Amino acid sequence: MWPRSCSFQLLIAGIVAYSLVNCSYATTAAPTGSGRAVVDFDAILLRRLMLNNSATSNATDVAAVSVQQVMETISYLFTAPRTLNETFDKAPELNYEAFWDVVDGAEALSGMKGMLAESEVVALLDSMATRVAQLPTHLCWPVLRRIVLAALMQRRLQHGPFSLDAAAAAARLCVRFFLLHRTAAGRKGVIDFFHISKAGGTTFCQLAKLNGCRTQSFAARRNCLIREFDDVPRWVNHTLHVSLAPRGLRTPWFANWGSKQRNSVSCHIRKRFMMRRRFNILANEFTVYGAQRIPRNAHVCPGHLNVLQLRHPHLRLRSHLMWVWALYDHHFKEQAAEFFPTHGSAHWRALLPAATDNYYIRSLLGESVYFLPSENLNLTHLTAARLAIMQFDVLLLLEQPAMNEVLYEMAIGWGLGFGAVHARTSSQVHEVGRQGLPDSDDWKQLLKHNELDMDLYRFGSLLALLDVIVFDIAREAGLGSGYSAISAEGGEGGGTGNAAVAGSRAVHPGDDEQWELPGNSTTQRSMCGFVSANEADDALPAWLVV
Ligand SMILES: *[C@@H]1O[C@H](CO)[C@@H](O)[C@H](O)[C@H]1NC(C)=O
Ligand SMILES: *[C@@H]1O[C@H](CO)[C@@H](O)[C@H](O)[C@H]1NC(C)=O
Ligand SMILES: *[C@@H]1O[C@H](CO)[C@@H](O)[C@H](O)[C@H]1NC(C)=O
Ligand SMILES: *[C@@H]1O[C@H](CO)[C@@H](O)[C@H](O)[C@H]1NC(C)=O
Ligand SMILES: *[C@@H]1O[C@H](CO)[C@@H](O)[C@H](O)[C@H]1NC(C)=O
Ligand SMILES: *[C@@H]1O[C@H](CO)[C@@H](O)[C@H](O)[C@H]1NC(C)=O
Repeated sequence: MWPRSCSFQLLIAGIVAYSLVNCSYATTAAPTGSGRAVVDFDAILLRRLMLNNSATSNATDVAAVSVQQVMETISYLFTAPRTLNETFDKAPELNYEAFWDVVDGAEALSGMKGMLAESEVVALLDSMATRVAQLPTHLCWPVLRRIVLAALMQRRLQHGPFSLDAAAAAARLCVRFFLLHRTAAGRKGVIDFFHISKAGGTTFCQLAKLNGCRTQSFAARRNCLIREFDDVPRWVNHTLHVSLAPRGLRTPWFANWGSKQRNSVSCHIRKRFMMRRRFNILANEFTVYGAQRIPRNAHVCPGHLNVLQLRHPHLRLRSHLMWVWALYDHHFKEQAAEFFPTHGSAHWRALLPAATDNYYIRSLLGESVYFLPSENLNLTHLTAARLAIMQFDVLLLLEQPAMNEVLYEMAIGWGLGFGAVHARTSSQVHEVGRQGLPDSDDWKQLLKHNELDMDLYRFGSLLALLDVIVFDIAREAGLGSGYSAISAEGGEGGGTGNAAVAGSRAVHPGDDEQWELPGNSTTQRSMCGFVSANEADDALPAWLVV
């Protein structure tokens, strides 16, 4: 646990931090001989390799992120392409020879194949950048990007700062990855938001609306979900709910765990459906696609821009229990108590079998894992879930506002976002929901069952840190298109930005909401970011329109 004074944590400790701190913090662009500004690779590392722990400091077991963990993540990434090839049938990046070439380059850079001299580093980075520039542009190449960043980090941690030439070459390589990402996002044309319940998904959907995206419905209970795709979450154990229900009560939508198979829709049909209606965002609040029976077939849709937001697992879990308690309260009023003979962790685990037991891993591995009984997940699942997370094009961290700002602008292309995305439950839900939480010792037992998810979360956070270095470098290189933070409450001129949302952002069960920017705000500046790049000139292919 962190003392309050330690809420802003420097990720890289010890000697490495010292050498980083010695380089210029404030200056990110230094003039070169030719007068051209170059991006200061080290300064961006220093700025980005930090986690703001102020939002998670009260959660128990927030482990320190150490140099060792960074190194472990890096070495894990080097083994990842091969494990990935063995774990899932569909990981499209791996099908290209160029992918393996660039991975070879990354391994050489990291020193796995013997130390490179500084002069060789520049040549290697430039040849990798050339190769990256030639990659097909229908994918964002997130796996490859993270492996290359891991190699850069490894080199940096072991050899100290890059020479000016090598730093410039590293920045050029990062810019290549950004350009590839942006082009691919435009070709994909659809944001596929993987909404892990109670991890900030409603906010993301409403932000999509404010940024000019289009979908079937932005209403709170629809939340960017597409009705026909059946991606609603399966929360409450149907059998248990029904066995507790007093006679004559209607079974609510959320008592659907174990009773409602997904009506599965292929990636191809999803894409056609979206394009015909000119929708450009969908949310999926259930599991990744395609693994109802065969875990190997779990996959995201490669034709979509896949976005995932993570929230600290303990805070997510707490919020989920409070929400479900409040949902029962809202739906069943005085009869709600019938469903909770106790509010101990054993009852919660039976009532919400997936949500209380490593929900991230279950969601990321498809339905066959989502519905496994508790106690059945092990390290094999954790490994597979790490590989699943690596394939998301964009990783947001709910508790890292400064990081999300870079990602909204540079990875999604949105002009508007919230600096701090608060978990959006109303104080009323807090009041009511708190009564449903297990006692403190019992709560700790519940958390123990979610240690695999904690591991996954740490890994995902480090991946997001590697990503944001690429996107920040691109921004420093002048490739951004502008961004304003919106303030939460109505009123004029929110904060530093020029927009504010009308009304309260806090929700409680039963609410409907449609956020609006009041007056003549700057909504239409971006039409849903990168995914709309080609829509103006995009005559739909003939086979789509019928
Ligand atoms: C953490 O706990 C302290 C004391 O219990 C409280 O004052 C503070 O608001 C809490 N912070 C968060 C982020 O919940
Ligand atoms: C850390 O995050 C909190 C909100 O979660 C924010 O208020 C604070 O300003 C952030 N600190 C820094 C140094 O960015
Ligand atoms: C990836 O897996 C396929 C079979 O599943 C195999 O043929 C191929 O050699 C593997 N590629 C690498 C680089 O390991
Ligand atoms: C769901 O509820 C039924 C009926 O009470 C129970 O037998 C079963 O164990 C529960 N499922 C899980 C995974 O806890
Ligand atoms: C995890 O469980 C699966 C079966 O669900 C099994 O195939 C695998 O070997 C187990 N892994 C470990 C490390 O125990
Ligand atoms: C919107 O802008 C126009 C001209 O810029 C102005 O005349 C009008 O009053 C504005 N409307 C609102 C609601 O602010």
